[in-house]
Amino acid sequence: MTQLDLPIHSSLPYRIRLPGPTAVPERVMRAASRPIVAHRGSRFLPVFKDVLDRLHPIFGRGPDGIPPFVFASTGIGGMESAVVNVVAPGERFLVCTTGQWGPVFRRLIEGVGGVVDEVVSPYGGAIYLEGVEKALTGTKYTAVFAIHSESSTGALGDLKALGAIVGKTDALLVVDTVSGLAGAEMQADAWGVDVAVTGCQKALMSPPGLAVASVSHKAWAVIDKPDRGPRGYFDYRKFRPNSEKGEPTYTAPVAMLHALHEALVMIGEEGLEACIARHLRLSTALRAGFSALGFSVFPTTTPTPTCQVFYTPEGIDAQAYIALMAERYNTDYATTRLEEHKSRMVRIGTMGCVSEGDIFTDIHLTARALVDMGGSGDVEAALKAASDAMAK
Ligand SMILES: Cc1ncc(COP(=O)(O)O)c(C=O)c1O
Repeated sequence: MTQLDLPIHSSLPYRIRLPGPTAVPERVMRAASRPIVAHRGSRFLPVFKDVLDRLHPIFGRGPDGIPPFVFASTGIGGMESAVVNVVAPGERFLVCTTGQWGPVFRRLIEGVGGVVDEVVSPYGGAIYLEGVEKALTGTKYTAVFAIHSESSTGALGDLKALGAIVGKTDALLVVDTVSGLAGAEMQADAWGVDVAVTGCQKALMSPPGLAVASVSHKAWAVIDKPDRGPRGYFDYRKFRPNSEKGEPTYTAPVAMLHALHEALVMIGEEGLEACIARHLRLSTALRAGFSALGFSVFPTTTPTPTCQVFYTPEGIDAQAYIALMAERYNTDYATTRLEEHKSRMVRIGTMGCVSEGDIFTDIHLTARALVDMGGSGDVEAALKAASDAMAK
């Protein structure tokens, strides 16, 4: 980590511990500073092709699958790309809402003229599978939209179970895995995920600015219909032939792709399975350590391994705690956009370039902050709880 020139009264190194963007390894930053080369030339095309080849299995797609589409955009642009390629005005769509991101899908679908029904779970809860099953029995939907890793509540979506339900119908399953991919298991083919979109600034540990979409052959039959959209920049029909040739569509964001390539090489060196296992181990350890400090885990279902959402201990104002962590301890945690939870909720990223050292540092600095704020925290017990969880 490097010391940033920020107006923070601390000699500690800066730590970005958000649920995105996440810390970018030095190696990846160095790759981003390579010379900008011709994006259709021989210096760049092998890099681009390798990015596609390395992303494909991370989505859980097999060798006969359609290669992923990579383009300059944030995660919401990725979501919009899925919407404009799948939605036709007047058709019906089912959105599974478990937090902040379902309503974003809803807004995007309605913007294109789709008709939306929503199956809403209590915040922190699982995807309401029975509700989805019931909705699909009575009505014909073109697609069901869901969130893999709901970063506003810390809940993991059970895509395998959802895919089994949706797979009994003709509907497509479209998934936002912006905060999931490469940190939480994704088996798009095996689970029946037809469209999956992500951003590169989360578990893919790259600087923000790229989105990726992966589509199934079943999805293509819908995407290929001329009545979807309206489509412009995000038209998957433009991306597919280029991706199949291993070439970029439009001017490739060369620096960001060099960075993403390096990050994917790092994931390859660690091994995807080991990478997913690390996310699980470290997220479990953070929850164990913070629970020992008096925090409570917010999600009531399986927590996502990529983003830990807590309620602060009784009497500790979350906004003040997050501000203190930033100002005194040079550590950026995230607040919430959910107004009713603002005074108690904190969100911490456990994805991408995160290590055991990060977890122990989070616990140590938080214990100090609690004392600063007039509370208390048994740092030894919390570190031991985390360490025990890591050992499992
Ligand atoms: C689950 C999820 N979906 C979508 C987004 C939106 O991504 P972006 O801010 O890059 O547009 C985020 C970002 O926090 C996210 O966590």
